Amino acid sequence: MAERVPAMKIETGKAAVWNGDCLVVAVYEGGRLQDAASQVFGKEGAKVVQQLLDDGWMRGKADEHLLIPMPVTGVAASRLLLLGLGKSEELTLEKLRLNAGQMMQLASKKGMRSLLSILPLDQQVAKHPAGKGNKRRRELKAMVEGAQLACYRFNHYRKEQPDEDKLPQELTFAVARDEASSCRELLDHVGKVVRGVFLARDLGNHPGNVATPDYLAKVAQEMGQRLAFKTTIFDEKALQKQGMNTLLGVGQGSCHPPRLIIMEHRKGGEKPPVVIVGKGITFDSGGISLKPGDKMEDMKFDMSGGAAVFGVMQVAAELQWPINLIGIVPAAENLPDGKAQRPGDIVRSAKGLFVEVINTDAEGRLVLADALHHAESFNPAAIIDLATLTGACVVALGTQCAGLLGNDDRLIAALRQAGDESGERVWPLPMYPEYQELLKSSVADVKNIGNREAGTITGACFLSRFVEKERRWAHLDIAGMAIDSDGKRSYAPKGCVGFGVRLLCQLIEDQWL
Ligand code: BES
Ligand code: MN
Ligand code: ZN
Repeated sequence: MAERVPAMKIETGKAAVWNGDCLVVAVYEGGRLQDAASQVFGKEGAKVVQQLLDDGWMRGKADEHLLIPMPVTGVAASRLLLLGLGKSEELTLEKLRLNAGQMMQLASKKGMRSLLSILPLDQQVAKHPAGKGNKRRRELKAMVEGAQLACYRFNHYRKEQPDEDKLPQELTFAVARDEASSCRELLDHVGKVVRGVFLARDLGNHPGNVATPDYLAKVAQEMGQRLAFKTTIFDEKALQKQGMNTLLGVGQGSCHPPRLIIMEHRKGGEKPPVVIVGKGITFDSGGISLKPGDKMEDMKFDMSGGAAVFGVMQVAAELQWPINLIGIVPAAENLPDGKAQRPGDIVRSAKGLFVEVINTDAEGRLVLADALHHAESFNPAAIIDLATLTGACVVALGTQCAGLLGNDDRLIAALRQAGDESGERVWPLPMYPEYQELLKSSVADVKNIGNREAGTITGACFLSRFVEKERRWAHLDIAGMAIDSDGKRSYAPKGCVGFGVRLLCQLIEDQWL
């Protein structure tokens, strides 16, 4: 991370004498400078800048910006970046994140080396739905998060790094004196969460020929050594021994055999663990039920749920959370081949339930079936799974929130709250028992798809067969959220978003810390 995110600092000194590249000042819609601007510019200076705004150079809408040579004498920075924040009464944590992300994107495009943002000097700026915890801290957290998350670059497979990708060397936030030390602690905390997001993004962005099931297993082992947690890998032999045939079946058409990856962070004494499970399909061609070619390359992201699990495990270890947290990633590649699974095949899952595979492209639920069953063996306080499970979820909810299903109202409410707070939003869908009927097989215990109706719900219904009735369980369908294909959020560059890492970290902090 040190190498991936500019040095971030907290200063309480006078912003006017700071002599770096660029002073960043927020402007609200209607052309009103942020409140703290006059502290920095002085009354006269603020007038000069206000005149620019009154002359119509910028309105202050969110997304808008104006970069100018420093127009105010007595201020040492060499340029001024005015950043639109939209209506002050509509400011939210998410807008702060986006704004800070935009600041970093502009800085790297323009080749700036050092920045000073005075936005944090405005006290209590955001009007957002009430959440737990100190409002001021939440706002600062959002700003720092947006700035750091926007620094992600994936230039692994370029000989030359694009100029406009070069990050500034440092970013300073100006804050009031009495909050400096808590802000420094916050920088460190956010930095660790962001490292987890970056890990998830990296894993997601590596293509299918690199990030194979065995590659993911090796990453887990390396992490376990570095961060002192236990890892267990089931290879084909072990999977056979465990009877994990729904996982094996999905992978049997690929020359990269499946793995079940188990990571155990045990810092919670005798407390029952929380288990997080992430779909790890390293490439999903659909198998014999082959997908159409258009955009098939995006199916390298089909392990984004698994990638998020890796990210959260790293955060838990780095922040030394005093809990027991277990991450499980069933990893396989879904390809057609002479040995591939065919429609109509019947496989016996590790739980003993026989599954009729009607469609080999509904493979996520098959690998999760054995993984969820294995999660049960830890007798956990809760199981949460994340999966790019259904195209139907993208149709239903688009790219604004993930689908949320489960069997426990409290867990569902907690996830929604964590989603609103983190900006990784989730929205509930029902699981009425009648939906289960769509999965009735004429020959086996269950079939792996329903009809064309309610695809996201029947996917979750299938999964529910592999967790115990009384177990608190939630399923997140992240198919619409895992990748950003146009880079429309300033803090999430194109490609794998790392969705779920911040959401689950927030949930764990709210519920179990
Ligand atoms: N990985 C896909 C779901 C997906 C689609 C994720 C688009 C992201 C974007 C999943 O394995 C799949 O193929 N699901 C099928 C299920 C169907 C066969 C019941 C789908 O959604 O079409
Ligand atoms: Mn599929
Ligand atoms: Zn898939």
